[in-house]
Amino acid sequence: MLLEIRKLRKEYRRGDAGFLAVNDVDISVGENDFIFITGRSGSGKSTLLNLIAGLARPSSGKIVFDGRDIGGANEKELAFLRNSQIGYIPQGHGILFNFTVLDNVLLPFYFYSREGDPKKRALSLLEQTGIPHLVGSYPDQLSGGELRRVSIARSLINSPCLLIADEPTGDLDPQTTNDILRMFERISAEGVTIILVTHEVDTVSCGNRHLIMEEGFIREADCFQRYP
Ligand SMILES: Nc1ncnc2c1ncn2[C@@H]1O[C@H](COP(=O)(O)OP(=O)(O)OP(=O)(O)O)[C@@H](O)[C@H]1O
Ligand SMILES: [Mg+2]
Repeated sequence: MLLEIRKLRKEYRRGDAGFLAVNDVDISVGENDFIFITGRSGSGKSTLLNLIAGLARPSSGKIVFDGRDIGGANEKELAFLRNSQIGYIPQGHGILFNFTVLDNVLLPFYFYSREGDPKKRALSLLEQTGIPHLVGSYPDQLSGGELRRVSIARSLINSPCLLIADEPTGDLDPQTTNDILRMFERISAEGVTIILVTHEVDTVSCGNRHLIMEEGFIREADCFQRYP
């Protein structure tokens, strides 16, 4: 298993009371999995992804990634893991507005400081996400959907083995949504494990597993049904 999640909990406080945004979540993710997680707004999807990406700390439970319990990792180790092995597409886009599109895509490469010239790969990813013509533009000249596609290209620059995508097609039109999902299918076929969150059930048109999140709990969908 690439990722083992056991009895995972995340407690938040609201006023005087605590509540579990993620509640006793158990998931085993294999290397060939392409998983869709659906659930209503506020059900804990983003919180769960943030825990897996090491952006938030669990209240209790275990996350074992590639044989390593990341609960015990320090911030520096988590950042290294995120930049080297995990591609993360945050809800929204997380694009930095004072950098060009190209530099935004290259950013994780510089954090990870690998050898070589990543520019060719960045251009190829922008090609695959359908926005090669925007390479030199600044983000304030881009539409919401274009920013989303920059974020997708950026998540793939370091060739991650796990791709975590939080509503990656949230504000895209049906045709572009379809293009992006086909791209994820190709990435999955190349051996990248994918966990994709969406609250639009009709985007579950690919993948091999469908999990449903409800008030912090998660369960496998009764039958895996793809939408055409
Ligand atoms: N930092 C925080 N502090 C307190 N409560 C939080 C925090 N982050 C999220 N929550 C709460 O935890 C619950 C789960 O939030 P989360 O963002 O994980 O939901 P979601 O399923 O991703 O929703 P959406 O589909 O709207 O993105 C919500 O009730 C939210 O208000
Ligand atoms: Mg969310």
